Amino acid sequence: MTKDYKRITTNVLQEMKDNKEKISMLTSYDFTLAKIVDNAGIDVILVGDSASNVMAGHETTLPITLDHMIYHASSVVKAASRALVVVDLPFGSYQGDSKKALRSSIRIMKESGAHAVKLEGGDEIIDSVQRILTAGIPVMGHLGLTPQSIYKFGTYTVRAKQDAEAEKLIEDAKLLQEAGCFAIVLEKIPADLAKKVSNELEIPIIGIGAGNGVDGQVLVLHDMLGMTHEFNPRFLRRYLNLYEDINQAVKKYVDDVKNQDFPNENEEY
Ligand code: KIV
Repeated sequence: MTKDYKRITTNVLQEMKDNKEKISMLTSYDFTLAKIVDNAGIDVILVGDSASNVMAGHETTLPITLDHMIYHASSVVKAASRALVVVDLPFGSYQGDSKKALRSSIRIMKESGAHAVKLEGGDEIIDSVQRILTAGIPVMGHLGLTPQSIYKFGTYTVRAKQDAEAEKLIEDAKLLQEAGCFAIVLEKIPADLAKKVSNELEIPIIGIGAGNGVDGQVLVLHDMLGMTHEFNPRFLRRYLNLYEDINQAVKKYVDDVKNQDFPNENEEY
């Protein structure tokens, strides 16, 4: 049964898992869209480093900086009155240096007002996860396809199809839970494996391209709204085709301006 929560916290997300209520999560990077998303009743807003692709036009998530993430996050936080706001620690702000990871997380929490941070990886970043948690900052994990490691993987294809990688993913998930993460995102892995992780772990597991056997789902907002049209993975369901709608609207505006149809008498002073 869906309960009417006034404010989503990490405890509420745990309650949802315990009560078998699925968790909804979408990305947002700006005030206007975050306001619509929050008012529509989303549980978690992720200020993802996918902003690097979606907002800044980079090919990967690697170039986005901590300052950029804080800028996006502070706009989103102002719009979110119900959702839990989670912010990605960008590439280079936490790997291999747990003190730096803590400093980056504190900056995000202090300067944006967000509620939690997300990091990619398992045992290789566990020191960072532990140190951030000691400061009382909630941490979300991210395993499977981790886009900040794209140059190590070489492709964006499904991860953990082989036994060894699947076993490591399960071990990493357990390690993140033991460290104190409040939830984990699993990206682009076989549905059976994601279901197994969700069944074996107490904390919520949020999937993207990880099937329906997990505790919640996340998508990139601009993808599910159909604003990005070159990106067509099998897992993506488009709820609108805004690329086409915006394209048509802009073409109509251009025509109206050229033909002096806009503005008309009612639209002038
Ligand atoms: O940056 C992002 O948008 C993400 C989601 C794909 C989970 O990490």
